[in-house]
Amino acid sequence: MAIKQKRVTTKKTATVELTKSASGNSAGSGIEPAKGKLGVMIPGMGAVATTFVAGVEAIRKGLAKPIGSLTQMGTIRLGKRTEGRSPKVKEFVPLAGLNDLVFTGWDIFEDNMYEAASNAGVLDRYLLDEIKTFLSSIKPRKAVFDHNYVKRIDGPNVKKGKNKMDLAEQLRDDIRQFKKSSGASRLVTVWCASTETFIEPSAAHQSIRAFENGLAKNDENIAPSMIYAYASLMEGVPFANGAPNLTVDIPAMLELSKQNEAPICGKDFKTGQTLMKTVLAPAFKARLLGLSGWYSTNILGNRDGEVLDDPGSFKTKEESKLGVLEHILQPAIYPELYGNIFHKVRINYYPPRGDNKEGWDNIDIFGWLGYPMQIKVDFLCRDSILAAPIVLDLVLFLDLAKRSAELRGLGIQEWMSFYFKSPMTAPGLYPEHDLFIQSMKLKNTLRHLKGEELITHLGLEYYD
Ligand SMILES: NC(=O)c1ccc[n+]([C@@H]2O[C@H](COP(=O)([O-])OP(=O)(O)OC[C@H]3O[C@@H](n4cnc5c(N)ncnc54)[C@H](O)[C@@H]3O)[C@@H](O)[C@H]2O)c1
Repeated sequence: MAIKQKRVTTKKTATVELTKSASGNSAGSGIEPAKGKLGVMIPGMGAVATTFVAGVEAIRKGLAKPIGSLTQMGTIRLGKRTEGRSPKVKEFVPLAGLNDLVFTGWDIFEDNMYEAASNAGVLDRYLLDEIKTFLSSIKPRKAVFDHNYVKRIDGPNVKKGKNKMDLAEQLRDDIRQFKKSSGASRLVTVWCASTETFIEPSAAHQSIRAFENGLAKNDENIAPSMIYAYASLMEGVPFANGAPNLTVDIPAMLELSKQNEAPICGKDFKTGQTLMKTVLAPAFKARLLGLSGWYSTNILGNRDGEVLDDPGSFKTKEESKLGVLEHILQPAIYPELYGNIFHKVRINYYPPRGDNKEGWDNIDIFGWLGYPMQIKVDFLCRDSILAAPIVLDLVLFLDLAKRSAELRGLGIQEWMSFYFKSPMTAPGLYPEHDLFIQSMKLKNTLRHLKGEELITHLGLEYYD
């Protein structure tokens, strides 16, 4: 019902820059310029969110560099290797500048971003104090929360409503109010809140109509993250899901995303252990080395670790982490090499480590004539330091997608798989997990948008 009245249209005529794709594919890749401020809305103002926002401010003030961000530091090769054309990504496609970003967020705790960042313990106090005034000014809006979905935490800063539709309306009010007060011309939402308990798609998730009925009837299968996503998409705002929850990975959200031209992507930021897995597994497959077992364990002591100590939330994360090998190694095509893999993932809450996770992998491989070998990976990483540049890139690329006539009506932005452990794809399509395929896919999408030739690495022309 509400959908028809609130449909958001963004088709523009005046300022659209039209390019013709040299890949021979579709003309009309119009991209509107990134004019005005871009509002970033973050459900969950914890370790990742505060490390991201504090980082952006520190970079704006010249206190640090945007290490790990493809949009800020990456380049993109154009044309032949002999042409020497490798502009920065941010100079090649029209992205919002860091100075144009404005922020808001929601959390069940009342701490402002300075307090939340201090509690998260990721960034040094001296850095936080340099940007204290800015961070203190970002205060959490009241959250939509359901303790049944995140069992290990509870907080006071929570909305009350007569049903889930009412809560969605309150979030939509927040969004409109933020847009007005911040003066943002465009908005993006990135879910950085806790991992919700594992659920499977159910009847209420199957269409917009079923979902709206479910909201009105308080259907228990509608998770808080879905209410945020619904509110964003109803306002025509793109939504990225940084956690492994279902959230936008259901038919109702796909329908809404397409209808309101609000791009979606997810799930679960690809940061530490899975990043390594999606680098190593493609190497084994490329060299036809067999795999008999991969045991992955993690110790971490932040609030995320505490939430993941609950079996329901852990199951959501486990599913997200386990799919990777199956899709990369394709055991059905290579039964002798990958037909019998023992793959185990563990996450253990260990408070002394805080956000500094240790991800440890034991990998049993076999080579020529079946002789076994072992590889050990011990990644002493910093979870939120790895996640923050991903959040930045997602914000800027989702906003680009929203301004692109070719991308904004597609729903799922599969070209952003690069950033996710469990990439969303069109129904029936298996996800690409290999980091290098993902990277090529992303860069080729940018080339395509700008009418540049796609790079296939064939290279025969150099030998003509
Ligand atoms: N850091 C990484 O490397 C990484 C990688 C992949 C995914 N993730 C995911 O990103 C999310 C954030 O991670 P983090 O380390 O910042 O966790 P965190 O626990 O520090 O922060 C999450 C915040 O979300 C809040 N929250 C929970 N439910 C909420 C709701 N319904 N509405 C608003 N706020 C809510 C919590 O109070 C908390 O402040 C987690 O789901 C995590 O699994 C993190």
